Amino acid sequence: MSGARVVAVANQKGGVGKTTTSVNVAAGLAQAGRRVLLVDLDPQGNATMGSGVDKRKCARTVYQVLLGLGDIATIRVRSQAGGYDLVPANRELAGAEVELVGLSNREGRLRAAIDSLAQEYEFVLIDCPPSLSLLTVNAFTAAHEVLIPMQCEYYALEGLSDLVGTIKQVRAHLNPRLEIAGLLRTMYDPRNTLSHHVSQQLEEHFGDKVYRTLVPRNVRLAEAPSFGAPAVVWDRSSKGAQAYLALADEILARAGFTAGAPA
Ligand SMILES: Nc1ncnc2c1ncn2[C@@H]1O[C@H](COP(=O)(O)OP(=O)(O)OP(=O)(O)O)[C@@H](O)[C@H]1O
Ligand SMILES: [Mg+2]
Repeated sequence: MSGARVVAVANQKGGVGKTTTSVNVAAGLAQAGRRVLLVDLDPQGNATMGSGVDKRKCARTVYQVLLGLGDIATIRVRSQAGGYDLVPANRELAGAEVELVGLSNREGRLRAAIDSLAQEYEFVLIDCPPSLSLLTVNAFTAAHEVLIPMQCEYYALEGLSDLVGTIKQVRAHLNPRLEIAGLLRTMYDPRNTLSHHVSQQLEEHFGDKVYRTLVPRNVRLAEAPSFGAPAVVWDRSSKGAQAYLALADEILARAGFTAGAPA
């Protein structure tokens, strides 16, 4: 394979597990011996903190990358906890949206930056903000595929059509290679009937675009960020971590790697 597989983790709905998925898949792939870059593209900076990097201490972030004020190669830092490289984000990124509007190639800036170091990695993950904004469009323009975390609840399906619509528009105008990698069921509770029903509906509608791996609701996943490490590192044996390791294997297999190769 030449160059990294670029995966945007996106859903405009807030709190569905995008960041938890981004950091745990990044660390899971790293544990399988893959070279991984995680790009935090959310002003909340949660993926940065969850990788054990203090967002308040990052003088340069993805904001400088997008505005052409710095080189991504020198702005990336190492997530020691996660075993991957990280392009951090913090509140400063909130201003980028407005500032980008007047600039050339405003949708393609992240792609240009990622392309410049794609040869150094096997996977680049992008943790998107909860919106279909210019930031998310930058992620979709840079990506080969979109991984969509979602909770199995009634309104989840409604939001999906807006998301798929945006993906189609980006594919038509900016990035013909863009595909949906898969839908990931997060915070899954098998005892909840609606959860079960929506999950089945997803499988019927989207078939093998739904990841086999189900991520259960598991408090260890929620606790890990306060310890500055992904759950797959901090408590590897927890049910949540095990699910994300299985997902990483599924992603490796789909990308044509032998799953679970030793680090
Ligand atoms: N499987 C899970 N079990 C329990 N808690 C979870 C699980 N996945 C995520 N959480 C918790 O739910 C909250 C939202 O998750 P997360 O931050 O990953 O979602 P998000 O989609 O990135 O949110 P945002 O849209 O704000 O960026 C967090 O507090 C997280 O720790
Ligand atoms: Mg998030």
